[in-house]
Amino acid sequence: MFSKVFLSLVVLASSVAAAVPTVGRRATCANGKTTANDACCVWFDVLDDIQENLFHGGQCGEDAHESLRLTFHDAIAFSPALTAAGQFGGGGADGSIIAHSDVELTYPVNDGLDEIVEASRPFAIKHNVSFGDFIQFAGAVGVANCNGGPQLSFFAGRSNDSQPSPPNLVPLPSDTADTILSRFSDAGFDAVEVVWLLVSHTVGSQNTVDSSIPGAPFDSTPSDFDAQFFVETMLNGTLVPGNGLQDGEVLSPYPGEFRLQSDFALSRDSRTTCEWQKMIADRANMLEKFEITMLKMSLLGFDQSALTDCSDVIPTATGTVQDPFIPAGLTVDDLQPACSSSAFPTVTTVAGAVTSIPAVPLNS
Ligand SMILES: *[C@@H]1O[C@H](CO)[C@@H](O)[C@H](O)[C@H]1NC(C)=O
Ligand SMILES: *[C@@H]1O[C@H](CO)[C@@H](O)[C@H](O)[C@H]1NC(C)=O
Ligand SMILES: *[C@@H]1O[C@H](CO)[C@@H](O)[C@H](O)[C@H]1NC(C)=O
Repeated sequence: MFSKVFLSLVVLASSVAAAVPTVGRRATCANGKTTANDACCVWFDVLDDIQENLFHGGQCGEDAHESLRLTFHDAIAFSPALTAAGQFGGGGADGSIIAHSDVELTYPVNDGLDEIVEASRPFAIKHNVSFGDFIQFAGAVGVANCNGGPQLSFFAGRSNDSQPSPPNLVPLPSDTADTILSRFSDAGFDAVEVVWLLVSHTVGSQNTVDSSIPGAPFDSTPSDFDAQFFVETMLNGTLVPGNGLQDGEVLSPYPGEFRLQSDFALSRDSRTTCEWQKMIADRANMLEKFEITMLKMSLLGFDQSALTDCSDVIPTATGTVQDPFIPAGLTVDDLQPACSSSAFPTVTTVAGAVTSIPAVPLNS
């Protein structure tokens, strides 16, 4: 019986293989690299170019961080509620933040993205790929440069045509948890999916909320794709890292580290705090949830079946990260757990005195 099942699977597999059209077949590209689809070959050229000339030799630096941020600021501008009200609801991951930067970069929430937008534009034009595709590709490559980074999917084929997104669709750091969760809900994400997208803040930093401390990271390990963001946001806020508390900023737990008000609110909100803890407890799960939700976000405004899966062009991240820890000088007593249904995960405590976390260097 088992052999019969096996045989029919083999027959099925070979008939599927026979049905694959000549366009879209497994391809060896001009540079000798192979991909599941010949339409993906151009992305190897983009990859080599941006690793060298945008990410400074494949680094997880400022440009990688900003490229990841750009994936979100482009895509989340997608509102079925506006569309239902008879207005233009935004085109999602359509590259409008580059095509219509004259409009979208005037929105305060997009402060600080001008550099990565202008740095990205010529690469997309040179390789004749759409702005929407380029943004999602560069974000996936940039985050794969981080230690222990995720393996994001990349689908190509978004139209290059777009309109400027309406204002007020990208959540602000000063927004309440209610406002943020309802904006995401409009875009199709429930509360736990908001937590999964915020995994990105493990390699996050700020430049413009407090411009006196550009590059101030959201956790102590901004080059590592670890769970430290979720640990450190649960620590008691005790200090102001820069030039006074700014709009969208709350007290930080550690010198040099920056805490966004929105992260603080969601870390302690009953709708999100238990999922926040789960990210600490299981890194493999954290990566998987991030990968799934980033794919969903990257497809906002598009039909996945009309795009081509070029995920095999995205490099595999290397490096290892530490298990979750409390930074030196603090203890588990500094944690402020807020989940009533499960205990805070076990974390180790690093010995030594409090130090200051260096800013992410601005290398562009
Ligand atoms: C996308 O549109 C821009 C203008 O906004 C243009 O410069 C660029 O060449 C277009 N790219 C493609 C692939 O059509
Ligand atoms: C650029 O891409 C567009 C559509 O994506 C295509 O029509 C055009 O021929 C391409 N241009 C070049 C120079 O390859
Ligand atoms: C949090 O830090 C403040 C000092 O900013 C301190 O007064 C308070 O006791 C701390 N709370 C906890 C739970 O450690």
